[in-house]
Formats: sequence, structure tokens, C-alpha cells
Amino acid sequence: ADYETIAVRIAGRVATITLRRPEALNALNLRMMRELVEAAHRLDDDRAISVLILEGSARAFAAGADIKEMADRSYSEMYLADWFTAWDRLTAIRKPMIAAVAGYALGGGCELAMLCDVIVAAQSARFGQPEVKLGIPPGIGGSQRLTRAVGKAKAMELCLTGRMMDAHEAERGGLVARVVPDDELGREVGELAEAMAAASLAALLTIKECVNRAFETPLAEGVRFERRAFHAAFATADQKEGMAAFAGKRPPVFTHG
Ligand code: HXC
Repeated sequence: ADYETIAVRIAGRVATITLRRPEALNALNLRMMRELVEAAHRLDDDRAISVLILEGSARAFAAGADIKEMADRSYSEMYLADWFTAWDRLTAIRKPMIAAVAGYALGGGCELAMLCDVIVAAQSARFGQPEVKLGIPPGIGGSQRLTRAVGKAKAMELCLTGRMMDAHEAERGGLVARVVPDDELGREVGELAEAMAAASLAALLTIKECVNRAFETPLAEGVRFERRAFHAAFATADQKEGMAAFAGKRPPVFTHG
């Protein structure tokens, strides 16, 4: 498909989506979000793909929702259009999605990274929810997902002041999985994606669903859900192959069936 604001490239079982409005620091306008959601769902439905990577440019992952596009809208316009609700469709992506963040990840950009499953940060990464400075609260889950990621004290401080945190603070706080030098971000994220993509697709989908349950159900329900998912895995060819390969001291060859 032809996209104007994003680019998609595929290498083996890994697909990379690149945000491409560098002149606006990848400010997320309606068109970009529509293209991103559509591309992500298309890749999610493709059995030949196991893992998605989302990246920006060296200067900005994304500096937020497009302020100029929103500035003049009224309350009833925003309400009626249900502004930003389309972004929620990213939570329906079943495959692991890795955010490769260099430079600014602010407002909607930080929220977009948090809609992914794993964030890897370059040393230049800056995370924040600066909406307060615009006279608005976060609008794409920032107050909820940042709080779950870094805890109430830090989330309150960041959302109430709009202060940016650097990559190391984000890692200490639990928002990002790891920090890498800027010139190694692409390679590190590629290797991480490859490592995931080498596993059984069914196992990846199941594990992502199980981890996400931890945020949505009481513990006992989550554990019950995981137990059933574990039992169900014994119906897959990949479980038989994975365990046979271990016993045979050889690498597994998964069919993703
Ligand atoms: C529209 C943006 C933008 C944005 C940057 N640009 N961020 N345009 N929406 N969110 C544009 C600038 O207008 C400028 O365009 C160009 O990108 C380069 O940005 P500069 O400001 O010149 O760069 P710099 O001085 O390096 O400063 C970088 C920055 C700053 C600190 C990231 O751009 C900034 O503060 N951006 C806004 C960050 C923000 O508030 N994000 C939250 C948005 S609200 P021109 O044409 O002048 O070259 C949001 C809502 C979430 O995300 C949901 C709640 C409703």
C-alpha cells in the first residue's frame, strides 16, 4: 500500500513502520494515525509477520499529537469526532510491537510509545506529557499508562509539570526495557525483534495476551487465564516441536501453525 506519512519495510518475519513527518518532528496528525493504524492491522493479519517495530527519526519519535490541527476546534467538535478514539485500535494488535525511541517522545508521542509492548530508548530519548502547558490533560491514555509504568509519584510530577525525563530516568522508572547508544538503536531493536520472531507465533500472541491481562483483571483471574492458555498451547505443533527440539539438543523449527 502507498502511504504518505509512514513507510513500511519487511525483513523476514519482522515489519518496521517508520513515522515520516520529520519536518514537524513527527507530530501525529489524523492522516498519520489513520495510516499507522491501518498498516499495523494489515501487518497483524499477515501470517508471514511475527513482530512489528515502530520508529521515528533520529530527532523525534513523535513530538505529540499535531497541535496545529487541534488548536481551533470546539468542545462539541472534539466530542462528536471522538478525537483520538481511533488510536485505541492499536490496543487490538495481537503481535508484539516494539517502539524504538530516539529524541522526543512527548504527549501523544509518549502515549504512542506506551501503546507498544516494549520500549527501547536511545540515549537521546526524552519522554514527557507536556499537555499541561497547552491547557489540556493527556488524551490518549498518558495519565493511565504512565502511572501504571512509573507509579503515581513520578507520573503525577511529570503530568502536572510537563517535565521531560531522559532515557536513563525512564529506564529506572520502568517505562523502557533498555537504553542503547543512538547509533546502535536500529541494530539493537532489530536483534530484539529477530529474537522474538524466532519463536512460535502462537506463543508470542498468547504471551502478549497473558501479560496484558495483568493490567485488566484481578490476580486470580489473570492466573486462571494464563493457566488455560498454557494448557491450550499443548494443542499446537510448535509446542511439540519446541519440546522435541529441547530433548534432541537441536534448535527448534517452528511452523507457526
Ligand atoms: C505540531 C509540531 C509539534 C506538535 C513540533 N512541531 N511539535 N507541530 N504539533 N506537537 C513543529 C514545530 O511547530 C516546528 O514547525 C517543527 O515541528 C520543529 O519544532 P521546533 O519547536 O522548532 O523544534 P525545537 O525548538 O527543537 O523544539 C522541539 C520541542 C517542541 C521541544 C519538541 O517542538 C515542542 O515543545 N513541541 C510540542 C510538544 C508538545 O507539546 N507535545 C504535546 C502535544 S499535545 P515549524 O513549521 O515552525 O518549523 C498532545 C495531545 C495528546 O500530544 C492528547 C491530549 C489532547
